[in-house]
Amino acid sequence: MGHIHAKTRENLLAAMHGEAFAYVKYMLFAEQARKHGRKELADLFEKTAAMERFEHFAEEAELVHLVGDDDDNLLDAISGETYEVETMYREFADLAAAAGDLDAADRFAEVRRDEIGHNEAFRKALQYLEEPVI
Ligand SMILES: [Fe+2]
Ligand SMILES: [Fe+2]
Repeated sequence: MGHIHAKTRENLLAAMHGEAFAYVKYMLFAEQARKHGRKELADLFEKTAAMERFEHFAEEAELVHLVGDDDDNLLDAISGETYEVETMYREFADLAAAAGDLDAADRFAEVRRDEIGHNEAFRKALQYLEEPVI
């Protein structure tokens, strides 16, 4: 596979964020429709969600080589979780608290604690991966 232009790569990543969000959103919409006994609407949301996830996202992911070897994937995951813990959720929690949005501030802080756990688990898994097999 040939080299991909930086802007195209950026657009693919932006499109993937949209597809991933649409997948989760439509699954939640399906849940809501099913609660109201609207089985056909729920099926429509789920069928559409599946295409966003298993076709659109997956095909775009392949073009940007999203998935690498296990150690590459762990490094990528650690970098994402570290950003969320050290920068994103820390700042979001502080800004929400300063704005008086205390529920959101609590939620950001609680999610941040979960991300710390994810980060530690991935770091351990990477260490384990790097140990020589005896
Ligand atoms: Fe799509
Ligand atoms: Fe996480």
